[in-house]
Amino acid sequence: MGSSLWTVCLIFASLTSAAVCANPRKPVDVKFGRNYVPTWAFDHIKYFNDGSDIQLHLDKYTGTGFQSKGSYLFGHFSMNIKMVPGDSAGTVTAFYLSSQNAEHDEIDFEFLGNRTGQPYILQTNVFTGGKGDREQRIYLWFDPTKDYHRYSILWNLYQIVFFVDDVPIRVFKNSKDLGVKFPFDQPMKIYNSLWNADDWATRGGLEKTDWSKLHS
Ligand SMILES: *[C@@H]1O[C@H](CO)[C@@H](O)[C@H](O)[C@H]1NC(C)=O
Repeated sequence: MGSSLWTVCLIFASLTSAAVCANPRKPVDVKFGRNYVPTWAFDHIKYFNDGSDIQLHLDKYTGTGFQSKGSYLFGHFSMNIKMVPGDSAGTVTAFYLSSQNAEHDEIDFEFLGNRTGQPYILQTNVFTGGKGDREQRIYLWFDPTKDYHRYSILWNLYQIVFFVDDVPIRVFKNSKDLGVKFPFDQPMKIYNSLWNADDWATRGGLEKTDWSKLHS
């Protein structure tokens, strides 16, 4: 990975999953290309183990991302991800579901990087009919750059549940009866991406991406 800066590693198993660079858990091998396609900057995605593990790379020119070929109405979606290690300030790694229309629905995990030794923030959000503004932020109880962890979204007609390693961290209930919109009729695709967002990601944008840091 000599010339690339930041890397996120992902492993593909079953329908959904993504994450890290070294000796991850091996469920059933399914190649990336069976369920996913790169979305932009194809040359910033690197493939390992015959295409069942991948890494996303970010440099000062571009990040990258991929999306599922299929669309899904409800489901349980998981990615095994190992975040950008070291100085990741200014970077955002995302795993989310989204519909493709203007008044779109979206269910987000966003991982906001930080200076070496400072904690990542995990931000979740839910958009219904194009409207978001439901961000919630937590600190994780582990260093997400050390190992692969499994991040999951359970989405059914009753609720959306965000899990970190099988620990539910957020529930968004279907309160349609109370007049709150809930995603129920727009199929969503699965997305992952890594990009530079140093105008807001780390300490509200105070900490900028340090492009002189080279990871290998
Ligand atoms: C980064 O570290 C600082 C200092 O510990 C903390 O205030 C902040 O919430 C951390 N995370 C992000 C993404 O800014």
